[in-house]
Amino acid sequence: MQQVKAVVARGKGQPVEVTTINVPDPGPGEALVKVQACGVCHTDLHYREGGINDDFPFLLGHEAAGVVEAVGDDVTSVAPGDFVVLNWRAVCGDCRACDRGEPWYCFATHNATQKMTLEDGTELSPALGIGAFAEKTLVAAGQCTKVDPSARAAAVGLLGCGVMAGIGAAINTGQVTRGKSVAVIGCGGVGVAAVAGSALAGASPIIAVDIDPKKLAKATEMGATHTVDSSTTDPVAAIQELTGGHGADVVIEAVGRPETWKQAFYARDLAGTVVLVGVPTPDMTLPDIPLIDVFGRGGSLKSSWYGDCLPSRDFPMLVDLYQQGRLDLDAFVTEEIGIDDVEAAFARMHDGDVLRSVVIL
Ligand code: APR
Ligand code: ZN
Ligand code: ZN
Repeated sequence: MQQVKAVVARGKGQPVEVTTINVPDPGPGEALVKVQACGVCHTDLHYREGGINDDFPFLLGHEAAGVVEAVGDDVTSVAPGDFVVLNWRAVCGDCRACDRGEPWYCFATHNATQKMTLEDGTELSPALGIGAFAEKTLVAAGQCTKVDPSARAAAVGLLGCGVMAGIGAAINTGQVTRGKSVAVIGCGGVGVAAVAGSALAGASPIIAVDIDPKKLAKATEMGATHTVDSSTTDPVAAIQELTGGHGADVVIEAVGRPETWKQAFYARDLAGTVVLVGVPTPDMTLPDIPLIDVFGRGGSLKSSWYGDCLPSRDFPMLVDLYQQGRLDLDAFVTEEIGIDDVEAAFARMHDGDVLRSVVIL
């Protein structure tokens, strides 16, 4: 067992605290990771606001990269010294989804069995089964994916959540390929990652939609060919006009609201695909759309969960593309901060200038 510094949310809406936690030595199937960098995501804030569940205290942080320090006896997939990106969907390999060859839908994903605790012994709930705003964290070995050790931890750690969700929404869920037209509604961290993924895949045009001109400027940097400010322009009409009157082959909704999903529904080509990657709140319902409009169109309406990624396949590939200069992960890192600055980073999250604050440990 070791004691390390970590960021803990003790109760609903209370500011987070930097405190000492106990981290057990890795047992069977587990790995102890020395965290180097961890991004601050909306989901961390959501945990501390009690929006996910009431299992306080939470050990926050889940978009991380670091070095494996020790592994349990039976672990062969990673070894001490490996540079890894952590993931929150370590697939089991033998549930029904894994068996039918769609492991990204795995419903028996692995986490560490042992609990990390506060100094008084209270068990911590690690955010998304990771808990990486900590000098060290204990995860399932399958949550560690080995990547190129010369890559910058602050940048590649972001593949652990939001950036992967956006890129995967385009290339995995939306099946964006060369020559397809794409529109992305909502260009926060997830949306601009969807723009970057579409650019990687060779899509054209790539139309970015947001109500904030600063976000649209960022989307252009990431590869958008056109931008639409939907606070002043009807995005459905604009997307149709930019796609020869058809609508986009793939429309990615990265806000998570009924109004913007409705825009996505009508902005797609008749046989197009809508991908919902923005996360709605439980009280939201489908927008009011005549069923005849659903019937009258082919194509598909999909949702994208963690970008339908397979970490063991996608992380090393995307890190290599980053290292080759073909995927600008540095552009997602707005600022590097210390472990004491997470609460301040939460406050800045919605000011429009921050894509990701990354805690350096
Ligand atoms: N039309 C277009 N864009 C909008 C609208 C709207 N009506 N309302 C908000 N937006 C834009 C915001 O300006 C912002 O750029 O959507 C973007 C949302 O981005 P972030 O708040 O930075 O969220 P992000 O991290 O990208 O996540 C997007 O996925 O993970 C979930 O909870 C997260 O639902 C959120 C979504
Ligand atoms: Zn499985
Ligand atoms: Zn996240």
